[in-house]
Amino acid sequence: MPRKIILDVDPGVDDAIALILALYHPGIEVVAVTSVGGNVPPNVASRNVSGILGFLDPPRWPRVGVSSLPDDGLPVQGRYGLSVDCLEAAQLKVAELRSPHPAEKVICEEVRTAPGQVTIVALGPLTNIARAFRRDPELPTLVAKLFISGGTVAAGGNVTAAAEFNMYCDPKAAREVFRSSSTKFLVPLDVTNRVMLTFDHLVNLPSEATRVGWFLRTILPPAFLSYRQRLGIEGIHIHDCVTLMAALHPELFEYEEMAGDVETGGELCRGATVFDRRRVPAWQRNIAVARKMDTSRVVDGLLASLERAAWEAGPMLPQ
Ligand code: BDR
Ligand code: CA
Repeated sequence: MPRKIILDVDPGVDDAIALILALYHPGIEVVAVTSVGGNVPPNVASRNVSGILGFLDPPRWPRVGVSSLPDDGLPVQGRYGLSVDCLEAAQLKVAELRSPHPAEKVICEEVRTAPGQVTIVALGPLTNIARAFRRDPELPTLVAKLFISGGTVAAGGNVTAAAEFNMYCDPKAAREVFRSSSTKFLVPLDVTNRVMLTFDHLVNLPSEATRVGWFLRTILPPAFLSYRQRLGIEGIHIHDCVTLMAALHPELFEYEEMAGDVETGGELCRGATVFDRRRVPAWQRNIAVARKMDTSRVVDGLLASLERAAWEAGPMLPQ
């Protein structure tokens, strides 16, 4: 039986690709897609999710939960100005939802429907997850697993010197989730930075004659351009796709049980993930952190999954 997954996303290019991978992966059933502000403002994140779902029209539609602002607002607009709004590039049509449900409500309902069976893959700031846990305090124990994309152990930050983007956007929510009793798996930058989508990959993506190929070939070039201009890198990171792979293919990752927390304030360290690695730690171990990964198999698996998604989603239809 396919595993049930809720994807919480802030698309964003890497979130969008992860969403495509998940929708067509045979091993899982995406029961809900919830959106959160981060790479783009909350309303744009929700619009992008609807646009992608409408464009792909997957055989089994997930429920959709719309996003709202973090309690303290978003501190930045995108990471390094990399807020590539994929919908803007692809000009997807968006149908208005007739009765939009808040993301945290959808998360609570879906987990309650199948207690112990639903894995949450959180690919954006942890706003919705923290709100769902606040709304239903028993929920952390009813979630099968919670995968979190972000944070750092030894790597530097990617939005400030100290912080990774998702943690920085809503550090209070991140702290609540880290301190929750859910079974958590963190896939930090230390690991996700090792995967880079290069121009070689770009030219070998599924054909433009397929819906998935057309979409990827439309949203990726602006992202490549941003990375080159802003970071001087010839390729892009696809952090959230790596995190999704961790949820789908545990055999490709090695974890260490660690004692972690998130800095919520501070002049320099807002959103930094902090781990108690003293010889005699004072904190309890509370999170499994990905430390090793079979990088080439992860990349091969990602590309193969995109090919399969392109095949399943079918040809590009006349616009
Ligand atoms: C994370 O930040 C976002 O820009 C990406 O989508 C990813 O979730 C990486 O730091
Ligand atoms: Ca993201």
